[in-house]
Amino acid sequence: MSQSGRTARPRHYLMCRPHYFDVRYSINPWMDPTKPTVTETSLSQWKRLHDLFVELGHRIDLIEPVPDLPDMVFAANGATVLDGRVLVARFRHDYRAGESPAYLDWFAERGWAEVRQAEYVNEGEGDFLLVGDTLLAGSGFRSDPRSQQEAQEFFGRQVLGLTLVDPRFYHLDTALSVLDRDEVMYYPAAFSPESRDVLAERFPDAILAEEADAAAFGLNAVSDGLHVVLPEQARGLAAQLAERGFEPIGVDLSELLKAGGSAKCCTLELRPAPEPLSGSDPAR
Ligand code: ARG
Repeated sequence: MSQSGRTARPRHYLMCRPHYFDVRYSINPWMDPTKPTVTETSLSQWKRLHDLFVELGHRIDLIEPVPDLPDMVFAANGATVLDGRVLVARFRHDYRAGESPAYLDWFAERGWAEVRQAEYVNEGEGDFLLVGDTLLAGSGFRSDPRSQQEAQEFFGRQVLGLTLVDPRFYHLDTALSVLDRDEVMYYPAAFSPESRDVLAERFPDAILAEEADAAAFGLNAVSDGLHVVLPEQARGLAAQLAERGFEPIGVDLSELLKAGGSAKCCTLELRPAPEPLSGSDPAR
């Protein structure tokens, strides 16, 4: 436990090396295919993020990158994984559709029991974020609102829909970050007025990000309950986090930002089924 009383909980993440990373098409306002990318830089920046998670005690699995899928580094979009159940993404754009079979195979080969591809468009943890027992669900640019009902039925959890309105923040995980069981930080202007009201009511103590920090992708952060890994350019947000007793850790993922992604986009959390209580073991 830290001095502030916050505790880090070790996580299990799935990541994908940016071996084939590039910006060859544009499906969000960050992507400019005429701007060159440097593979070596994306690889070294990504490796630093990977190694940092390992240093923090998290377990990392890797999915093999696939040629001609330059956005596959953004593993958060591959699926939503909760209670051992895996809802594999259905991508909005054909450019990324080939990622779904790779995730279906990855989970099936490793013996995850309930694995299926979503019927309605949803881009995994890009738009679904678990806070406490509730799944927050973004829509407006990518995920189909009908995917919310589908997720509610598949996971048996309450789903709270939120509408995104600023194209720079096209996925929920670019506008809101889950910090702890019931704590979030977000950029209000990224949401519709109705969704802003919902957020203010549900999370009255949330950290509210300034536009400059949101534009530096500061909300695309990964928290373990104590350490919050976020783009180092989001200095204001780092200070706000430190004030609340978190330990912000800045990383440089400027190369991946050329595709509109940062730390959280590279990180898919794998949540296994809860271990059965030994006392309720029917074999005993
Ligand atoms: N270029 C990718 C896209 O537009 C970036 C995805 C970022 N991922 C995320 N979880 N926000 O789909």
